[in-house]
Amino acid sequence: MSLDQLRVNRRRFLAGASATLGVLALRGYPVLAAAAAHFTHGVASGDPLADRVILWTRVLPGSGSAERLDVAWEIAMDEAFQQIISSGSTTTDSSRDYTVKVDAAGLAPANQYFYRFSTQGVFSVTGRTRTLPEAGVESIRLAVLSCSNYPQGYFNVYKEVANRPCDAVLHLGDYIYEYAQGGYANPMMLELGRNVQPENEIVSIEDYRMRYGLYRTDVDLQAAHQNHPFICVWDDHEITNNTWQTGAENHNEGEGAFDARRRAAIQAYHEWLPIRGQATIEEGIIYRSFEFGDLATLIMLDTRLVGRDQQLSHDMNIDTLRSRLADEQRSIMGATQESWLVSELQRSAQAGKPWQIVGQQLLMGKLFPPQVSDEELDPLERDAILAGRYGMLRTRGRQGLPLNLDAWDGYPENRSRTLRAFREHANNVVVLAGDTHSSWAFDLHADDNQIVAVEFGTPSVTSPGFENFLVLPEGRLEEATMQASPELKYMKANGRGWVELEVQREKVRATWHFVSTITDRRYELVSGATLETLAGKPAIHIV
Ligand SMILES: [Fe+2]
Repeated sequence: MSLDQLRVNRRRFLAGASATLGVLALRGYPVLAAAAAHFTHGVASGDPLADRVILWTRVLPGSGSAERLDVAWEIAMDEAFQQIISSGSTTTDSSRDYTVKVDAAGLAPANQYFYRFSTQGVFSVTGRTRTLPEAGVESIRLAVLSCSNYPQGYFNVYKEVANRPCDAVLHLGDYIYEYAQGGYANPMMLELGRNVQPENEIVSIEDYRMRYGLYRTDVDLQAAHQNHPFICVWDDHEITNNTWQTGAENHNEGEGAFDARRRAAIQAYHEWLPIRGQATIEEGIIYRSFEFGDLATLIMLDTRLVGRDQQLSHDMNIDTLRSRLADEQRSIMGATQESWLVSELQRSAQAGKPWQIVGQQLLMGKLFPPQVSDEELDPLERDAILAGRYGMLRTRGRQGLPLNLDAWDGYPENRSRTLRAFREHANNVVVLAGDTHSSWAFDLHADDNQIVAVEFGTPSVTSPGFENFLVLPEGRLEEATMQASPELKYMKANGRGWVELEVQREKVRATWHFVSTITDRRYELVSGATLETLAGKPAIHIV
């Protein structure tokens, strides 16, 4: 194990060194060293099925000119490539930013495989991946991640995930952030040189490509991709903040047509992430499902882009807001995806699978603003706090309005229908959410107040969490938020980390892990809560 790790680290160092050269060469700078070709960003795999998996890499011509490259790939049972199971070749060029993606088929279920690419006698690093089980599976383990903002800190969470066993890594979105240099960044990290490229807010296809290219120079992110298959969905920041189907909060004057930006973002996403193409780029459909044998169906949703109506605002007249929230037509996912979800739940339940795991972006549980007394607020800032956003949200919370209208709370009729579908068509549903940067667990209640499912919300890899919403003594924010939100059963505002999800026939268990810091590469792993829900009795239990 340790020797293998040393080899991987050395290869990773070499891959990182050539990344700089490759990126410079592509963008018109002089080539700094002679080589036939450069694998610039390691390897990745994703969207595993029982018999196939997507393999990914990126390779640049050694000359720095825009020539087409033929790239060979092979996948084997062993790291020495003595038992090759499948191989082939493909091409890449500047039209796809020199990324390479193949769907390697003919594999056996529940197997570990090794894969690599080569061109002109130059080899990529070797990646490790895994196919999904087909039958007789007793347990699966998933690492659930979201919100990895490069200039907020080091990707220590990715480093941990890279070195722990799991069947797949689920990334629930905000894999990149769109902001310009200094926007939504930790000043300490900027001092340490964790700056973004390009320096501007990303808008064009070349901008999005360069931003993915920057993130993927990170050795810890490369290691996570190299060691595990990823299953990814986008949230808003892969496009721009608070996106909906036809616009976004952070799409402004001078940034061109939103549709052009949306297409650029979707194209770069498909180029850079190991996701299986299943529809035209124009349609932008990424919702899809995965079968873990007879144990579980994983249903990945797009609640962000494909069919979402524009968010409502707390700034609206309260009667108008109430009537808009009650509008049955308003959707977070679009009618086509909603009927697809129902058919996926039915199909999985009728096949006798005990668990339907729904991986998606936004909190589905009902979350209300914490009601903190005036005396608890910082006396020096009390007046400003009460006159500002918290004061307004606190008042609206007392009037029964939820905290975050960008989440499912802003689309309550769509949520009611979804919860009814869970009860009527599924066996046992566990919802997974990202987006918030903090840790949560909810009992999900239908309109008649019965619990029909549970939800686990994963914290961020680096992005700042709910502890910044209101600065209070340790534990008080959690207490006040849980008092205001009866369906919320667990919350931890601070702590960057991830959720390890273990699915077994009779229960699903979620274990939180945190890193002690993201502003230093030296950190410690900190254990968090372990919660579970039982088949046939949906409810959060603390273990
Ligand atoms: Fe985020």
